[in-house]
Amino acid sequence: MIWTLWLGLFAALLGSVAADTYNDPDTGLTYSQGFGLYKVDGRGITVRIAIPSGVEANTAYDAVVQVVVPTDVGWGGLAWGGSMTKNPLLVFWRGSNNSPVLSSRWSSGHTTPIPYTGATYTLYKTGTKSNSTHWQFTALCSGCTAFTGDSGLRYISPRGGNRLAFAYSPTKPSSNSNTSAITVHEVHGYWNHDFTSASNSNFVAAVAKFQK
Ligand code: HEM
Ligand SMILES: *[C@@H]1O[C@H](CO)[C@@H](O)[C@H](O)[C@H]1NC(C)=O
Ligand SMILES: *[C@@H]1O[C@H](CO)[C@@H](O)[C@H](O)[C@H]1NC(C)=O
Repeated sequence: MIWTLWLGLFAALLGSVAADTYNDPDTGLTYSQGFGLYKVDGRGITVRIAIPSGVEANTAYDAVVQVVVPTDVGWGGLAWGGSMTKNPLLVFWRGSNNSPVLSSRWSSGHTTPIPYTGATYTLYKTGTKSNSTHWQFTALCSGCTAFTGDSGLRYISPRGGNRLAFAYSPTKPSSNSNTSAITVHEVHGYWNHDFTSASNSNFVAAVAKFQK
């Protein structure tokens, strides 16, 4: 009875996210991070974002995204504009060669997202690694912070909080192609991601040292 109650409480928390900052020794950048819970036992996807310092409001800027993924995840998704529709979506899974596959997508509705050329990702060896329980990747995104949504051109603010969203599916796409079909998520959730603490004055210099 008590046990059932606890399970219910934990289940109600699925999709919830905690946020803080992370200093990464591998990439030399400071990230603000969110943790999207997708299993009642505490498993979740960690999304880290680092941006350059001094970015003007209402401009497009590049961002480094580092994601830590438990090995049981089939595919995971990050929605830069905080909803499924009309914003850059990053879908990621672990390829059969254990290499991360990153796929840039867009959806106009709650249907399978299609490839999106407005945002491109460069995957780096720096900050990309795995162990027996998790894999993680580090990539630079161009085009993730400005896009045309329902109310016209939208910019992700380089300061303060922006609502982001994640999605989780236990089902891995059947190939390493970034245009693979994906199945619908089991869990999705939102969080307010602090971009002020994602700011790095050494952003350009650090990214220039990343290994491809
Ligand atoms: C085969 C691919 C996908 C299908 C068929 C699909 C389908 C759906 C459906 C039917 C809903 C409505 C669920 C509800 O209202 O309870 C939904 C909501 C949502 N989906 Fe997806 N989805 C897909 C991929 C993705 C991806 C890649 C993301 C990336 C993060 C995503 C993020 C979300 C979010 C955040 C919501 C909540 C509603 C919203 O914010 O618009 N979905 N999806
Ligand atoms: C897939 O990868 C290729 C090569 O990096 C890239 O040109 C293309 O935009 C990517 N497509 C998607 C949907 O991510
Ligand atoms: C396994 O790898 C992940 C991703 O790099 C890391 O966050 C985690 O701390 C590692 N676990 C152990 C036990 O080293």
